[in-house]
Amino acid sequence: MAKMIDGKLVSKKITEWVAREVKDMTDAGHRKPFLGVILIGDNPASKIYVGRKETACREVGFDTTTIRFDEDVPEDEVIQQIREFNNNPNVDGILVQLPLPEHMDFLRVFNELSPHKDIDGLTPHSQGLLALNRAHHIPCTPKGIIKLIKAIDFEMKGVHAAVVGRSALVGSPIAKLLTHHHATVTTVHSRTKNPWEFTSTADLLVVAAGVPKLVDEKWVKKDAVVIDVGIHRVDDKICGDVDFDRVKEKASWITPVPGGVGPMTIAALLTNCFNAYKTHVS
Ligand code: GUN
Repeated sequence: MAKMIDGKLVSKKITEWVAREVKDMTDAGHRKPFLGVILIGDNPASKIYVGRKETACREVGFDTTTIRFDEDVPEDEVIQQIREFNNNPNVDGILVQLPLPEHMDFLRVFNELSPHKDIDGLTPHSQGLLALNRAHHIPCTPKGIIKLIKAIDFEMKGVHAAVVGRSALVGSPIAKLLTHHHATVTTVHSRTKNPWEFTSTADLLVVAAGVPKLVDEKWVKKDAVVIDVGIHRVDDKICGDVDFDRVKEKASWITPVPGGVGPMTIAALLTNCFNAYKTHVS
């Protein structure tokens, strides 16, 4: 039976550290860190995520503002808002919540973000630096995953790590990060034939497929560490991309859903924004 990787506990330690650092800075006479958020449209999941981020910011002593746009807003209006945040010296980080509406060009919008304020690490500039292992801001979910792996003292060097999924938000950056940590990385995705043949030899398995309970025990090597990035509501119950009840019997460690990766994404956002703030005020 696998041990649980407690993302709530690890993230709490990180957010408490950020709160102490913010207090030290404001006690010393500096302004508070500021996160500017842009939320477009009515995607229910996006609204929940942005609400959680706002709450987390306030809990650690950041100021934050969310600019909300209708789904059909012209791209230029969003770009105008990004430029305002870029040019405002009191804004430390800018977060444009994904997914963007269909009519928007991701590259055009994200290329507008100042790389120093791109605390999500998602601009083409930031992703290029990440590929070169020189990132200023590492994308939040992958950064949180690495922290969880380190929290259980798992040695990444030399192991076989498998990543399920290749999205710009999670799969692609976590595969790069694991490589930078000297793992040998296999990526499988929706077009891979018999993906379990690859994943079932992996010592570390990161699942970011976006498919409820896709991964069962057949995909998992005995005593592997399993990180589940997915979160879904199915028949009024929350589940991940991993069939938790079956995989927990085979893995050595596993993240629960909820309470695994989710809180770590927010903790990573806070640390990225705090790091940007430090470069702005000192
Ligand atoms: N949508 C889902 N997760 C994320 C995230 O980490 N950052 C942004 N910008 N959008 C998201």
